[in-house]
Amino acid sequence: MHALQRCIAPLCLATFDVSEVLTSCPDCGSLLDIDYEWDQLKVPKSLREFEARWTNRRNPLDFSGVWRFRDLLPFARDEDIVTIGEGQTILQQNTAVGNFVGMKPGSLFLQYEGLNPSGSFKDNGMTAASTHARMVGAKMAACASTGNTSASLAIYASTTQVFKVVVFVGSGKIAFGKLSQALDYDAKTLQVLGDFDDALDRVREVAGERGIYLCNSVNPFRLEGQKTIMYRVLEGLNWQVPDWIVVPGGNLGNSSAFGKAFAELKTLGLIDRIPRLAVINAAGANTLYQLYEEKGVRWDGGMSEDGTIDAFFADMDAANRKASTLASAIEINRPVNLKKCLRALDICDGVVRQVTDQEILDAKAQVGAGGFGCEPASAASVAGAKLLRAEGVIAPSDRVVCILTGHQLKDPDATVAYHSGDAALFESKLGSRGVQRATYANEPVVVENNLQRIIAALEKS
Ligand code: F0G
Repeated sequence: MHALQRCIAPLCLATFDVSEVLTSCPDCGSLLDIDYEWDQLKVPKSLREFEARWTNRRNPLDFSGVWRFRDLLPFARDEDIVTIGEGQTILQQNTAVGNFVGMKPGSLFLQYEGLNPSGSFKDNGMTAASTHARMVGAKMAACASTGNTSASLAIYASTTQVFKVVVFVGSGKIAFGKLSQALDYDAKTLQVLGDFDDALDRVREVAGERGIYLCNSVNPFRLEGQKTIMYRVLEGLNWQVPDWIVVPGGNLGNSSAFGKAFAELKTLGLIDRIPRLAVINAAGANTLYQLYEEKGVRWDGGMSEDGTIDAFFADMDAANRKASTLASAIEINRPVNLKKCLRALDICDGVVRQVTDQEILDAKAQVGAGGFGCEPASAASVAGAKLLRAEGVIAPSDRVVCILTGHQLKDPDATVAYHSGDAALFESKLGSRGVQRATYANEPVVVENNLQRIIAALEKS
């Protein structure tokens, strides 16, 4: 195996075997990467070589949208790989959403990660984490979640029966579509009386104490799987590099994985340039935005200003400031992958923006009206692209890829409240959270059970 775990802190860089179960560096506490001895490995000379696997769909590893790229995440033997057919997702050029964002026709693309088996991008990472869990013989796996990670881990456990699973969710905020998945897939589900950050703290303690395999994005193997979202974007663009990747930012696992993917592809000579990365926070959960855009914190070769970061979190605690957004998937105070995300922003000449819940829900309605739809957090990418276009940071003819991280059916409550036209419902679900209007409401029409009245109603619209 020419893979190892390596601490990302430049003054440490300690390495560990892939057989070790770690979620931080035992020497200095920093995050870990999976690193490869590329010169010892057989890597395709061109990304196009991966197309040969399209014709071999009977092999589950070639069918998987993650593992058909296994040469670029070579930490497991083929026989160890746990796959449920994840990554059958598409990149769709979308003119209607492009118009909304302010792009020239043909320039805006949506990467629909909601098409994964559990309905979100998490499956890209969970197949990799599950594979590592099998490699190390884990009997029990766990995660904390705002809903999608738990749905994903639960489906891997139920479908493959490789390990048992316990999921920790914060109480109150989790969207029912997601909670229903964990329950239906028979995962032991603990609703911790606290928010996501509390649930993550607790699951890390419990996992450490009980030797349970942790599947949050502090698990470096998980992020290896998430790199493949970018490989599929390139595949969808006939292996051309777009100008922009726009992604919602929560715990910052995706953005971290994307930066690593592009850095590796460049090092391997498989791409000639790196796209720019835009990470979009919800305004109610904007830690990254504040640190990066307002306080100017940068990766700085791994020597980023820890004092500023620590002071920011100390202030947050002192003021008892808690993240609050209708995009519950990204309602996170302390993103665990902050440092890796700073590195990704450095690699990709990135920017960070924040968008309001109003902007998120309006963008979501436009994605739905012009495409497959998405959950609220996912629409932050489209709202963010619109903002960057209005600022002139994104040019109308740039090729822009917005990542739609989760399926529309994950959180139907927000969608119905937005479109319903029922003022009380709108007020209780959305108005109370600061949303003023349903700019693109598509109200259901109540009509009598009568042919003439139905025809009259049709003629009205
Ligand atoms: N979009 C969706 C739909 C998500 O579920 C998440 C994260 C994100 C975006 C943010 O991605 O953490 O890589 O920056 N959901 C996690 C969960 C936290 O528990 O399901 P990130």
